[in-house]
Amino acid sequence: MKTAKTAGRKRVLSGMQPSGLLHLGNLLGALDNWKELQAKYDCFFLVADWHALSTNYADTSRIREFSRELLIDWLAVGIDPQRSTVFVQSRNPDHAILHLLLSMIVPVPWLERNPTYKEKQEEIKERDLSTYGFLGYPVLQAADILLYKPDYVPVGKDQLPHLELTRELARRFNNLYGPVFSEPHEHLTKFPKVLGTDGRKMSKSYGNTINLSDSEPVVRQKLKTMVTDPARVKRTDPGNPDICPVYDFHKIFSPVAVIERVNRECRTAEIGCIDCKKLTADAMVERLNPIWEARRTLSKNPDQVEEIVCEGNKRASEVSHRTLEEVKEAMKI
Ligand code: TRP
Ligand code: SF4
Repeated sequence: MKTAKTAGRKRVLSGMQPSGLLHLGNLLGALDNWKELQAKYDCFFLVADWHALSTNYADTSRIREFSRELLIDWLAVGIDPQRSTVFVQSRNPDHAILHLLLSMIVPVPWLERNPTYKEKQEEIKERDLSTYGFLGYPVLQAADILLYKPDYVPVGKDQLPHLELTRELARRFNNLYGPVFSEPHEHLTKFPKVLGTDGRKMSKSYGNTINLSDSEPVVRQKLKTMVTDPARVKRTDPGNPDICPVYDFHKIFSPVAVIERVNRECRTAEIGCIDCKKLTADAMVERLNPIWEARRTLSKNPDQVEEIVCEGNKRASEVSHRTLEEVKEAMKI
């Protein structure tokens, strides 16, 4: 059924690590894009829980919970399991097998020179990341990708080195054993910059996020404490929306009339930051309401989520199994 429907459509694969709760940055930066891709492509979306181990191996207590929440978030924002294959990495051992086979051919210097490898080690000083698994992170990601022979991999800029390595590995494999893998292209999209409540980039490591799983009062409270134009101290001081992260949210969530009003009345101090933030909160809540509603329903029905993942993993393993058969044949193993 699926194959008939998807025949001729190009394939997309992407994934996320369940290493925290999803926030607005993930929604606007990735999920909105994934949602659109579903209309045109045969999409595979994986929960990369083994990847989460690479940095969290010493404390695995929340990985399961985060995987569950991640699936609920995806489904709640509109990833449609009728159209897309939603699955969990650790439930498909093919990823481990291809990772092992690729690890035989990947030169260690390729991994050592990967910029994210060094950056993350610098960034996360409190955990020991000198492990084999962490060094091999992009090899596991290459396995995730190559098993499904996707045409496109929608990722953020930070993931481009991993995708380049995936292509290099595909080429190396094909040169050694014959053509099995195709080289996937990146699929970059423009999306609005999303700043956190402290005005820095929204990121869970900064603790400045607004999460999809936050309740309405929490969202409103977070907005109340959000930084604004720092030069606007008194209510009577005129402000500059162009340097205010609250205004960025208006541009993303508010109707044009509100955006124009804020742009005007902030500069003349007609509107105060408290009222302005309330308007942002209203617009954001309106956007989040259907997501919250869907989250509530899904959270009450874990069996439904389980069924979706079972079905997704079944479909995924049918594809990955075929690829792995070709790999073993090519390698004569
Ligand atoms: N490394 C990706 C990230 O941190 C997550 C990921 C794992 C992924 N496997 C993937 C992304 C395969 C794209 C394709 O965002
Ligand atoms: Fe920012 Fe709004 Fe205050 Fe202007 S009025 S500084 S846009 S919060």
